[in-house]
Amino acid sequence: MDNINEKIINIQKDALNEIKSAKESKKLEDIRINYLGKKGELTSILKMLGTLTKEERPVVGDKVNRLRVEIEEALNGAVMQLKKAETDVKFESEKTDLTLKGSAQKYVRRHPLQAIFDEVEDIFLGMGFSIAEGPEIEKEYYNFEALNMPASHPARDSQDTLYFNKELLLRTHTSPVQIRTMEKMAPNPVRVICPGRVYRRDTIDATHSPQFHQIEGLVVDKNVKFSDLIGALEVFIKKMFGEERKIRLRPGFFPFTEPSAEVDVSCIICGGSGCPACKNNGWLEILGSGTVHPFVLKAGGYDPEIFTGYAFGMGIERIAMLKYGVPDIRMFFENDIRFLHQF
Ligand code: PHE
Repeated sequence: MDNINEKIINIQKDALNEIKSAKESKKLEDIRINYLGKKGELTSILKMLGTLTKEERPVVGDKVNRLRVEIEEALNGAVMQLKKAETDVKFESEKTDLTLKGSAQKYVRRHPLQAIFDEVEDIFLGMGFSIAEGPEIEKEYYNFEALNMPASHPARDSQDTLYFNKELLLRTHTSPVQIRTMEKMAPNPVRVICPGRVYRRDTIDATHSPQFHQIEGLVVDKNVKFSDLIGALEVFIKKMFGEERKIRLRPGFFPFTEPSAEVDVSCIICGGSGCPACKNNGWLEILGSGTVHPFVLKAGGYDPEIFTGYAFGMGIERIAMLKYGVPDIRMFFENDIRFLHQF
């Protein structure tokens, strides 16, 4: 009995001391197992109860239970204290110094071609146009046939085409979206621009890429005149390149417009006095345009006796090269961050 009492007192002393000096939660857990666990010190005393008399048993049992509660409480208190100390240290180490100077970040920027797309789209949206789109993998019918370019038409040669088979190809221009839009809209008026990617079987060099971008424009309504086309393009070009720009129309040829006009802008680099960009003639060719050919109106589902229209198309890379002074079209597609970050 005395032996057991002594043991209990020693356990109490040792356990409380150990708890007091523990510096990590892990250590406290070990102490818990060591004293209170199934194979722990207190359990081993309970196992000795059998050697005691009937009277002694409840007395010792009670002592052991009270000591268990005492150790548990000491442990819990110590755990709480340690946890708090540990989170204090953690918070301290993770503290953000809001007065610290930031380091410069390189943010992703808008691609220069996207910037031109956005600018052109904004201008035309402001003029009441909406945006229409069509597939890049296109039917021969929409890319050529319906645009008044039958198989025998020599104009097809000027657009070296990438074919999948006889009927499917990669569109060579955004003009097929003209037909697709008219099919959807007829007989309602049309006033759309069609931005998109186009493909031609060109060898890549400083000014050619087998894949490039265009924006098409199409207006179909009763009473649309050629002068409406000129008016719209004049507004667009002045907004895009500056109020001081002039436009010039030269006769052109496209099978899907009649009459057709090539549109020039007075050089945006030299203002018209002559420089390498305009090959010293003061003008830059910027887009193709014309009055929608009656054949095309018919293909789109409009009666050319009642409806007229105009269309235009421009290359985005060319505009971006002129506007940003980019000397080589390949730079747009190489995704060199040193290039892209200049815009
Ligand atoms: N589709 C023509 C091209 O790619 C451009 C164009 C569009 C011309 C609309 C006239 C009208 O060259």
